[in-house]
Amino acid sequence: MEQRLTILVGTMTGTAQLVADEVADVLKARGVAVEVRPMDGLDAGIFAAGGAFLICSSTYGQGDVPDNAQKLFADLEQKKPDLARVVYGVIALGDRTYAQTFCFGGKRFDALLQSLGARRVGDLLLHDASAGTMPEEVAVDWIGPWLDQFRDARDKAA
Ligand SMILES: Cc1cc2nc3c(=O)[nH]c(=O)nc-3n(C[C@H](O)[C@H](O)[C@H](O)COP(=O)(O)O)c2cc1C
Repeated sequence: MEQRLTILVGTMTGTAQLVADEVADVLKARGVAVEVRPMDGLDAGIFAAGGAFLICSSTYGQGDVPDNAQKLFADLEQKKPDLARVVYGVIALGDRTYAQTFCFGGKRFDALLQSLGARRVGDLLLHDASAGTMPEEVAVDWIGPWLDQFRDARDKAA
């Protein structure tokens, strides 16, 4: 069966979008049908049918999710849907200059999805904008092993 995955992008200045697009290219080359969707206008219904997701989100304000992710985040908090049929990974963009809230955008999505019963595959990718590495390059290196873990988990569940 063809594997499908949706990358949900939370971004303020486009970095997470760039990362998502590059990661999507790698996944497509490895046989995954990928859809990249900015979080703008989305609500909890995006998860209603279950499936596989990558949350690709930066961090703003006092460790907040980006503006375009606020509605989706708040709707999940309010409706508390059962996400037992959701499997996900997280690419979190941040900057260690913000020591108290490093990568909290992605981390807050992770905590919320877990609390709703979704199952995370792999560790979070935490990218530090002040580390001197390009987030899209780090993410492209990270996604290969992540996909292996994702496929292992599916094979075991089958
Ligand atoms: C005003 C502002 C606030 C930020 N706040 C945080 C923060 O609290 N924690 C963090 O880890 N990074 C923070 N960042 C860093 C961004 O999340 C990081 O630069 C990210 O790569 C931007 O991605 P984007 O272009 O997709 O929005 C902040 C950046 C700006 C400009």
